[in-house]
Amino acid sequence: MQPDQLTASNLSPLTPAYDSILTLAPYQTGKPIEELTREYGVSDVVKLASNENPMGCSPRVTLAITEQLGQLSRYPDGNGYYLKQALADFNDVKVEQITLGNGSDDLLDILARSFVGADDAIVYSQYAFVVYSMLAKMQGAMDVEVPAHRFGHDLKAMSQAVQDNPNTKIVFIANPNNPTGAQLEQKELRQFVASVPSSVLVVLDEAYIEYSPESNNRALLDEFDNVIIVRTFSKAYGLAGLRVGYALSSVAVAELLNRIRQPFNVSRVGLAAAAAALADQDFIEKTRQMNDEQMRWLEKQFDTLGLGFVKSHANFIMVEVQVEMEDITAASIHQALLEQGVIVRPLGAYGLPNWLRITVGVAEDNLRLIDTLRSILSED
Ligand SMILES: Cc1ncc(COP(=O)(O)O)c(C=O)c1O
Repeated sequence: MQPDQLTASNLSPLTPAYDSILTLAPYQTGKPIEELTREYGVSDVVKLASNENPMGCSPRVTLAITEQLGQLSRYPDGNGYYLKQALADFNDVKVEQITLGNGSDDLLDILARSFVGADDAIVYSQYAFVVYSMLAKMQGAMDVEVPAHRFGHDLKAMSQAVQDNPNTKIVFIANPNNPTGAQLEQKELRQFVASVPSSVLVVLDEAYIEYSPESNNRALLDEFDNVIIVRTFSKAYGLAGLRVGYALSSVAVAELLNRIRQPFNVSRVGLAAAAAALADQDFIEKTRQMNDEQMRWLEKQFDTLGLGFVKSHANFIMVEVQVEMEDITAASIHQALLEQGVIVRPLGAYGLPNWLRITVGVAEDNLRLIDTLRSILSED
């Protein structure tokens, strides 16, 4: 049975905890390289669909992982002592303010489970990371989606939405935002946090912070106990396959989250790899430089091809590929790219059927993308 065919009657007599769970669409991941090879027989696949680091990860990670291989029969340190210590130094917070997660998705889930019940509401922006609305549905809570402003968060409207929904428990804000790449001004964000009641948790999802250091809102943590910052090792640090994320919050909130999380939610290998990756900030600097250069190059190519795009502050860019008059849609281009071994992300699930999200690759990947795109567009 396809997951989208799940209904109350074919589950019966079993019933999910909340009816809203039946309306959940499964999260669509970027197509794995192996799957494309299997389906289309293409061997040299370029994957630009999941905002991974095309440069891989720091060479220090390999060494750190190798050191763990003889100890795989042992549970990891459930408190992540060394990684937390390193994160505390790096972010200038106390160790007690940190919660580790199996990727930052795990932390978003722990936050929803810790704070949101069936009578509560979660507020988030249109075109923001799709997981926020999924979490509301999982908790049987109300999801309040606030219309975006120029593909970014409309913080004034979001503040109003919190006022209009006194049952709001969490506001999720992705900065920079996925999939649009939009970034918020620090001043504006501070005003927003000051405008909402201190009983509302403001979750700043900074998954792409390394690409946009000016989006770092660490300072808000010292001022507001209801602010939480969530980060990940999956993007610039290049450890998506290992699943490590972390949250910075007040000590009291961290205390709660640490009760809810699974006792060994980060693996032994993940803990060691993340600590090694954090210690290599030169790698992050190189990653950022490559991303900036390649982003400028891609923008030029999209201009030349006559394709619209949204200015992005992360490691991906949203491109409009609806070509009026000709029968070319984002879906058909996505499919044609797949058949030629280039994986990008269609954004129909985000209500953006004319757009594709393309992760910035290394020069060779981007060249292949643009050449393939050009040939598809000139064929039709
Ligand atoms: C905004 C945002 N938050 C969180 C995540 C989750 O990342 P992970 O669970 O790999 O840390 C992603 C991944 O795409 C993201 O784009």
